[in-house]
Amino acid sequence: MAACTGFSSDHFKSICIFLILFSLSSYLGSTIKHCLADANVEVLCLDAEREGLLAFKESLTDPSGRLTSWVGQDCCKWNGVYCNNQSGHVTQLNLRNPYQLINGGVGDSTAYKGSCLGGKINPSLLHLKYLDTLDLSLNDFEGAEIPEFFGQLKNLRYLNLSFSSFSGEIPPQLGSLPSLQYLDLYAYSFSSNSGSLELHAQNLNWLSGLSSLKLLNLGFVKLDHVGADWLQAVNMLPSLVELRLHYCQLQGIPLSLPFINFTSISVLDLSENSFNSAIPPWLFSLTSLTKLYLRWNFFTGHIPNEFANLKLLEVLDLSNNLDLGGQFPKLFGILRRLKGLDLSANNLNGEVHEFFDGFSGRPNNLEYLDLSSNSLEGELPKSLGNLKNLQYLRLSGNSFWGSIPSSIGNLSSLRKLDLSYNRMNGTIPESFGKLSELVDANLLQNSWEGILQESQFMNLKRLESFRLTTEPTKKFVFNVSYNWVPPFRLKSIQIENCQVGPSFPVWLQVQTELTSVILRNVGISDTIPGDWFSKLSSEITYLILSNNQIKGKLPRQMNSPNLRSIDLSSNHFEGTLPLWSTNADELFLQDNRFSGPLPENIGSLMPRLQRLYLSWNQLSGRIPSSVCNLEDLQILSIRSNNLSGEFPNCWYHSQMFWGIDISNNSLTGSIPSSFGSLRSLSVLLLSNNNLSGGIPYSLQNCTGLTSIDLGGNQLSGSLPLWISENLSSFFMLRLRSNLLSGDIPQRLCNLQNLHIIDLSHNSFSGAIPRCIGNLSALVYGNNSEVFQQLIWTVVKGRNPEYSNIIADVNSIDLSWNNLTGQIPDEIGNLSALHILNLSHNQLSGAIPQSLSSLASLSKLNLSFNNLAGKIPSLPNFNDPSIYEGNPLLCGAPLPTKCPGKHSPLH
Ligand SMILES: *[C@@H]1O[C@H](CO)[C@@H](O)[C@H](O)[C@H]1NC(C)=O
Ligand SMILES: *[C@@H]1O[C@H](CO)[C@@H](O)[C@H](O)[C@H]1NC(C)=O
Ligand SMILES: *[C@@H]1O[C@H](CO)[C@@H](O)[C@H](O)[C@H]1NC(C)=O
Ligand SMILES: *[C@@H]1O[C@H](CO)[C@@H](O)[C@H](O)[C@H]1NC(C)=O
Ligand SMILES: *[C@@H]1O[C@H](CO)[C@@H](O)[C@H](O)[C@H]1NC(C)=O
Ligand SMILES: *[C@@H]1O[C@H](CO)[C@@H](O)[C@H](O)[C@H]1NC(C)=O
Ligand SMILES: *[C@@H]1O[C@H](CO)[C@@H](O)[C@H](O)[C@H]1NC(C)=O
Ligand SMILES: *[C@@H]1O[C@H](CO)[C@@H](O)[C@H](O)[C@H]1NC(C)=O
Repeated sequence: MAACTGFSSDHFKSICIFLILFSLSSYLGSTIKHCLADANVEVLCLDAEREGLLAFKESLTDPSGRLTSWVGQDCCKWNGVYCNNQSGHVTQLNLRNPYQLINGGVGDSTAYKGSCLGGKINPSLLHLKYLDTLDLSLNDFEGAEIPEFFGQLKNLRYLNLSFSSFSGEIPPQLGSLPSLQYLDLYAYSFSSNSGSLELHAQNLNWLSGLSSLKLLNLGFVKLDHVGADWLQAVNMLPSLVELRLHYCQLQGIPLSLPFINFTSISVLDLSENSFNSAIPPWLFSLTSLTKLYLRWNFFTGHIPNEFANLKLLEVLDLSNNLDLGGQFPKLFGILRRLKGLDLSANNLNGEVHEFFDGFSGRPNNLEYLDLSSNSLEGELPKSLGNLKNLQYLRLSGNSFWGSIPSSIGNLSSLRKLDLSYNRMNGTIPESFGKLSELVDANLLQNSWEGILQESQFMNLKRLESFRLTTEPTKKFVFNVSYNWVPPFRLKSIQIENCQVGPSFPVWLQVQTELTSVILRNVGISDTIPGDWFSKLSSEITYLILSNNQIKGKLPRQMNSPNLRSIDLSSNHFEGTLPLWSTNADELFLQDNRFSGPLPENIGSLMPRLQRLYLSWNQLSGRIPSSVCNLEDLQILSIRSNNLSGEFPNCWYHSQMFWGIDISNNSLTGSIPSSFGSLRSLSVLLLSNNNLSGGIPYSLQNCTGLTSIDLGGNQLSGSLPLWISENLSSFFMLRLRSNLLSGDIPQRLCNLQNLHIIDLSHNSFSGAIPRCIGNLSALVYGNNSEVFQQLIWTVVKGRNPEYSNIIADVNSIDLSWNNLTGQIPDEIGNLSALHILNLSHNQLSGAIPQSLSSLASLSKLNLSFNNLAGKIPSLPNFNDPSIYEGNPLLCGAPLPTKCPGKHSPLH
C-alpha cells in the first residue's frame, strides 16, 4: 500500500495502474470500468487517504454511530467526507454535530452529548494532503489540546473547531496555513459549567502568517495575557472581513493606531470584554463596517458623532456599557442602512426629539431600536412615526412622560412595543388600534390616564401579550361595551389599577388561550362564569385576580398542571377552598369568604406548595396533619379564621419552612415541640389562640428565629433562658397577655437585634435588669427593615394587625406585671427607644433623671407603680396621666407640690 502515498500530479493515472496491476478484490472489474471511462464518471478514493480516515475514526469515540458508514472502499461516499470529483482526493471533512441547537443552547443535553464525537484526533489526518475544509464543530473533545499538526494541513481554507471543548493554548502552528480563509475557534463549551474550558493564547503574533484570512472567530478564547498590542496582529490582515472577539477577557484596547490596514472589515464583534476606556477613534476609519458589536465593554465617555462616518452600518450594539453617558446623540438618522440600534443600559440623558427628527425626510431601514434603561426624559416626539419599518421598539426604564404620540399608528410593522417603567402620565391614542402587526405591548409601570376604547384595539389581530399597569391614584378606564368581541386571542394579559369592571366583560370571557392572567385591582365585582376557568388553557401558569370584589364560588377542579401561582386574594369568593390539584407553588386566597374545613388531603393535592395564604376567611375545623407533608413549604399563613383543635405536631420534613402565622383562631393544646425541627423558622406568630403549656424547649434549635408573637394565649412558666444563647437575631419578642411568671432574665440583654419587647400583662416579677441599657439595637437604632419585611411577607393581607409595626419598632412594654425595684438608670442609654411602658407594676424609687436623654422617646407610661420623689424635667411628657397612680410622686405635671428643700422628708 506504500505506493499509494506518493501520488504524483499524475495520480489519477497511477491509481488506475496500481489497481489494475495489484488489486485482486472483487471491485476490480467495476473499478477498471470507472478508470477507463471518461473523466466525468465517479472516482474512488485513494487508499492512503482511506487508511488515514480509518485510523482517524479508530481513535475517535462515536457513541451515536455517526461514522458507521465509514466502511468499504470508496471513502468518498462516507458520511461527512467529500472528494474532488476529478482527482478523488478528499477535500472536505465535515463532522459537525448534526444535533440542532435550540435558541443557541443544546436543549436536551443528554441527546446532544450522545451525538458528539470525542476521543483523540489521530495525525493520520495528515494523509489527507488536499484537505481544504475541516469542520469538527459542536463535538466534545473534553478539554484536549488543538493538535499542532493541523498547521501542516497546508491546503486548509476552512477550519472550524467551535463549540468542541478544546482547551489549552492555541498552537501557534495554526499561523502557518497561508491559504486559510476561515478560522472559527469559538470556545464556548456546552459541556462545561462555566461555558468555557479555557482555550487561550499568549499572543496573537501567529496570526500574521494567515495572509488570506477573511474570518476569525476567537469568541470565548481567553486572551487576557495578549497585551495591549493584540490589535496590531489583527491590523496585519488586509483581507479580514469578519472579526469576532466576543468574551475574550481582553483587558484593553488602544486608542490610536499608527496605520490602519484591516479596512476590509465588515463585521466586528468586540462585545463583553473589559476595555474600560473611551470608544477608540480609529473605529471610525473602518468605513466598510456593516455590523459593530461593542456591548458590555465598560466604555466610558460619550457616543462620538463620528459614528456618522460609518455609512454602511446596519447593526450597532453599544448596549450595557453602563457608564457611557452624555446627551443623547442625534446623529443616527444619517445612517440610512441602519437596521438595528441598541443603546440600552447606558447612562444617556436628555430628550430624544432630535434623534427621531433626524430620521425625517429620508427613507430609513430601522427595524430594531432599543433605548431602554437610560436616563432619557421628555415626551415622545411625533417624529417617532418616521420609523416606518420599526418592528421592535424598546424604551423601558427611562423617564419619558406624557402621551404616546398618535403618529405611532404609522409604525405599521411594529411587532413589539415596550414602554414599561417610565413616567407616561398621559393617554394612549386612537391610532394605537392601527398596529395590525403588534404582538407584544408592554405598558407596565407607568401613570397612564384616560380611556381605552374598542377603536384602540380595532386592528390588533396579532396581539398575544398585553400588559398595562398604572398607579392606583390614576384613573384609567377600559370603556368598551359589555358584549364587545376583540380581534385578538391573548396568551398573556396583565392589567393593574385600571377600571375594567364592574362586570367580567365578554372580551375577557372569550380569551381562552391565556397562559398568564393578571387582573389585579381592576374593579370587577361580578361573578366569573364557571366555565371560563374550565376553558382556560391547560398551559396556564399564572392566575392572579386579586384585589377586586369578585363574587361567587370557584370550580372544584381545574385542569392546569402548569399553574405555578394562584392569587385570588382580597375578593368576595365564597364556598369551599379551591384547592385544585396542581403543581402550584404559591396560593393566595386570603381576605375572602371561604368557609368549611381545610381538606384532609391538602398535602397531596398541591404537593409543591411553598407559600399558602388563607388568612381572613371563615375556615373552621382542624388543621389537617397532611400539611406536614408539604416538603417545600416556606410560609403558612392562616390568621383570623375559626380554626380549632391542636396545631399538628409533625414538622419533620419541611426544611425550608420559615414563616408561620395562625394568629386569631381558637387553637388549643401546646406549641408543637416539632417546631424544633424547623431549622429555617424565622417568624412565628401564634397570638390570640387558646394555647397553653410552656414555651417549648425545642424552639432553641430554631436559631434563625427573628420574630415571635405568642401574645393572647394561656402560656405559663418562665421566660426560657436559652432565648439569648442561640437566638441572636431576635427582632421582636411579643409574649403579652399570657400567664408567664418569674424574673426577666439578664440574658435578654444579649439580644443585639431586639427592637420590640412586649412582656406586658403577665406575672413577671423581680427587678428590671440593669443590663437593659446594653440592648444595642435600642441604643443605636440599627436598621430593622429586613426583619419587618419578613413579618410583612408572612402576614400578607388587607388590614394586617402589624400594619403599625413600624410605629412599634424600638419599644419596651413591661406593663401590667409584678415588677419591683427601681427603674434602672441605664435605661437612659437607649437613645433609639420610641416607646417605654412600665405602668401597672410595683416599681419604686425615683424616676431616673437619665430618662431625659431619651431623645427618640415619643410615648412614656409610668403610671400605677410606687414611684416616689420629684418628677424630673421631661419637656415632651407633660401629661399627668403618665405619672398618675404613684402616690409618692410630686412636682409638675402632677398637681402635688414637692415639699421644700428643708422638708423633714429629705
Ligand atoms: C465536479 O465538481 C464540480 C465543482 O464542485 C462541479 O461543478 C461538477 O458538476 C462536478 N462534476 C461531477 C461529475 O459531479
Ligand atoms: C462553525 O461552526 C459553527 C457550529 O457548527 C457554526 O455555527 C459557525 O457558523 C461555523 N463557522 C463558520 C465560520 O462557518
Ligand atoms: C499596511 O498596508 C500597506 C499598504 O497596503 C502596506 O504597504 C504595509 O506593509 C501594511 N503594513 C502591514 C504591517 O501589514
Ligand atoms: C403617517 O404617514 C402619513 C403618510 O404615510 C402621513 O401623511 C401622516 O402625517 C403620518 N401621520 C403621522 C401621525 O405621522
Ligand atoms: C406629566 O408629567 C410631567 C413631568 O413630570 C409633568 O410636567 C406634567 O404636568 C404631567 N402631566 C399630567 C397630566 O399629569
Ligand atoms: C364610555 O363610552 C360611552 C360611549 O361609548 C360614553 O358615553 C361614556 O362617557 C364613556 N365613559 C368614559 C368614562 O369615558
Ligand atoms: C434539637 O437539636 C438537637 C441537637 O441538634 C436534637 O437532638 C433534637 O432532636 C432537636 N430537637 C428537635 C425537636 O428537633
Ligand atoms: C405580685 O407579687 C406579690 C408579692 O410577691 C404577690 O403576693 C402577688 O400575688 C403577685 N401578683 C401577681 C399578679 O402575680
